[in-house]
Amino acid sequence: MAKVLFVCVASFLLVVNHALLIDRCDLAKVLHRLELDGFEGYSLSEWLCLAFVESNFNISKVHENADGSSDYGIFQINSHYWCNDYRSHSENFCHVDCQDIMHPNLLSAITCAKKIVSAPGGMKNWVEWKLHCSGRPLNHWLTGCNLG
Ligand SMILES: *[C@@H]1O[C@H](CO)[C@@H](O)[C@H](O)[C@H]1NC(C)=O
Repeated sequence: MAKVLFVCVASFLLVVNHALLIDRCDLAKVLHRLELDGFEGYSLSEWLCLAFVESNFNISKVHENADGSSDYGIFQINSHYWCNDYRSHSENFCHVDCQDIMHPNLLSAITCAKKIVSAPGGMKNWVEWKLHCSGRPLNHWLTGCNLG
């Protein structure tokens, strides 16, 4: 009985953990399927680098900023402009709850990221991308990934 319970708890933890962190190549597949490869001129490698420098591929990452806003999910989408977290003023340009940005299917995160990257400045709207990805060789982000 105790053993069965242990197995149940252990697999529950695995599922939860899986929901937080997405594997690099699994993310590449999702981004590819949702047609981000080349979207607004940015390659899949740029999107992977962006997700890594912003969240370490953590779908549930929340970071509170000094101004009272927070950044949500794999692309660290900001609540002041893009999503509503009902905690501080939000323009909510993506018309989405910040909680939805962190859904494991990534649909809301990617839809909102498309909107952000379509704004003036493109990926430069993400400071970490500008600092760590822009203008660098990025092909290694897709190493070993089979997108088929
Ligand atoms: C993902 O982010 C959440 C919220 O910021 C944090 O609690 C969790 O520890 C992170 N997970 C990993 C595996 O880093």
